[in-house]
Amino acid sequence: MQGIKIVATGRALPRKIVTNDDLSRLVDTNDEWIRTRTGIRQRYFCEEETCQSLAIEAAFQAVERAGINKQEIGTVIVATATADNVFPSVACMVQNALGLSKEVMAFDLSAACSGFLYGLGVCHSVLLNQKKKYALLIGSEQMSRILDMEDRSTCVLFGDGAGAAVITLDENEFYQKAWSDGNSEALSCKGAGYDNQHLSMEGSKVFKFAVKVIAQGIEEILAESGKTIGEIDYIVCHQANERIIDHVSRKYEGVKFYKNMDRYANTSAASIPIALDEMYEKGMLKEGMQVILVGFGAGFTWSSALLTI
Ligand code: UT7
Repeated sequence: MQGIKIVATGRALPRKIVTNDDLSRLVDTNDEWIRTRTGIRQRYFCEEETCQSLAIEAAFQAVERAGINKQEIGTVIVATATADNVFPSVACMVQNALGLSKEVMAFDLSAACSGFLYGLGVCHSVLLNQKKKYALLIGSEQMSRILDMEDRSTCVLFGDGAGAAVITLDENEFYQKAWSDGNSEALSCKGAGYDNQHLSMEGSKVFKFAVKVIAQGIEEILAESGKTIGEIDYIVCHQANERIIDHVSRKYEGVKFYKNMDRYANTSAASIPIALDEMYEKGMLKEGMQVILVGFGAGFTWSSALLTI
């Protein structure tokens, strides 16, 4: 089987940490509510940084760690919902900042919190057809730019950050599936030119959707790969809410679910690559391990993948 593997990862966070107590001085909320309802203790918010600068920093780190000839990168994809510009894309800015070959396809991918998982599938297809050896996939978000800091039901949930991965073809097993429900209301944010460009969300609808599709994503990728849950070393879900993950994990006793939303909150398309980068850094991911990734988000998109380390 011609699958893909991650050669190296990187991540970047803004300097400024915002605690739950900090937010309780802005809106009618408190640390206890945020912690018990979401598992979030703090998040990072950009000051001088932007979606673009975070993407560049994370990408630079991933490419350095990969130790590859960067001219061998043929694709740069930035999964984001908070690009600095409508155009040019963040991906083009990464290509320029890293001094990559001009013989490269560089574009942003809009699939909200499912962006990194959708991107993995796109990278797989593209790598099968491109001459260059590597693809650079980044999830980068400046969620603080689209938050309504007067809406306590959303402003406490999100954070800024970026994660990046250098990807190449490999004989490893790799499976990916993706879905979209075409939902326009439960979680949305208007684009350039509209008066209100803040994120709005019907939290409990998204919660129910998330619990349902994470389990479905796990089941379907197991069926596709012919594996049993006992063969899976880790499940890494989009880090939106600890209660969502705990809810699903009850069904899969003994399987380790990675969680880090306590430190980052929900960083949308960046949450899964940030988690993977932390796991590599802690030495949790060893060659041959089988990891299931599950992303879900606005549009009611969702995707799961089985990745061999
Ligand atoms: O990336 C994918 C997108 N996001 C998600 O996956 C998020 C999915 N949804 C959720 O995580 C949860 O639905 C939330 C964390 C957003 C909300 O938790 P909940 O347990 O569903 O709370 P709720 O919306 O039912 O609100 C319960 C109460 C309400 O007060 P009343 O009406 O019961 O008096 C809210 O006004 O909590 C109130 N509330 C807050 N209180 C203190 C809402 N936000 C806050 C807050 N601080 N920040």
